[in-house]
Amino acid sequence: MATLGVNIDHIANVRQARKTVEPDPVQFAFLAELGGADSITVHLREDRRHIQDRDVFLLKETIKTKLNLEMAATEEMLEIAKKILPDYVTLVPEKRKEVTTEGGLDLKSNVQYLKKAVGNLKDSNIEVSAFIDPLGEQINYSKEIGFDFIELHTGKYAELSGSEQHKELQRIIESTHLANDLGLVVNAGHGLNYNNVKKIASINNMNELNIGHSIVARALAIGLEKSVREMKSLITSN
Ligand code: PXP
Repeated sequence: MATLGVNIDHIANVRQARKTVEPDPVQFAFLAELGGADSITVHLREDRRHIQDRDVFLLKETIKTKLNLEMAATEEMLEIAKKILPDYVTLVPEKRKEVTTEGGLDLKSNVQYLKKAVGNLKDSNIEVSAFIDPLGEQINYSKEIGFDFIELHTGKYAELSGSEQHKELQRIIESTHLANDLGLVVNAGHGLNYNNVKKIASINNMNELNIGHSIVARALAIGLEKSVREMKSLITSN
């Protein structure tokens, strides 16, 4: 049975829209854990557009589950990871202008650099995952570079429908089997929601699904009416 990693970047997006202190992703991590999250994921971006350094340091101290730090494999981020010591790091590609992570890592062009970066993190007892597209070549390079985990990019699966989505699902299933045969633990994520998650969750040996946007969107849908009611009551009661 796959476990659930909850990505709380969007909580920080709302806070950063006002550059204030609420909502605090650290408090929401606590609520996500109450709801059954098996791990908490945050992406510390070079431009600090949502999650801030302070969030990651506090999460490391306060969460009861596991901390998955998503980051680019830059020297700056490697130094931060070695200070924070998250349970694991997921290396992702990062472009300044993208709205969200657009594709998987290009492992082939960066084998030597990534070998060093992964070795560096493992020396600090941090397990390391590679966010990759579901392609045999990327999986083979993940093994060669020394990753412990891979996270298969489900963004394409989420965008497609009908027979095209079915083909992409097959690619994800085959990739999971290939990775397992090589001894890699397989996670998946991106674009997963309440409609499309089941088929990914039921893949044999799927370890963990990392989900953010749809969970935060659902939280707003479930919670907004109550929060308006509370404000209305404050305004109208003596
Ligand atoms: N996995 C990775 C590597 C990501 O970059 C993201 C988005 O930050 C997710 C999973 C979660 O994607 P979503 O917010 O679409 O659920």
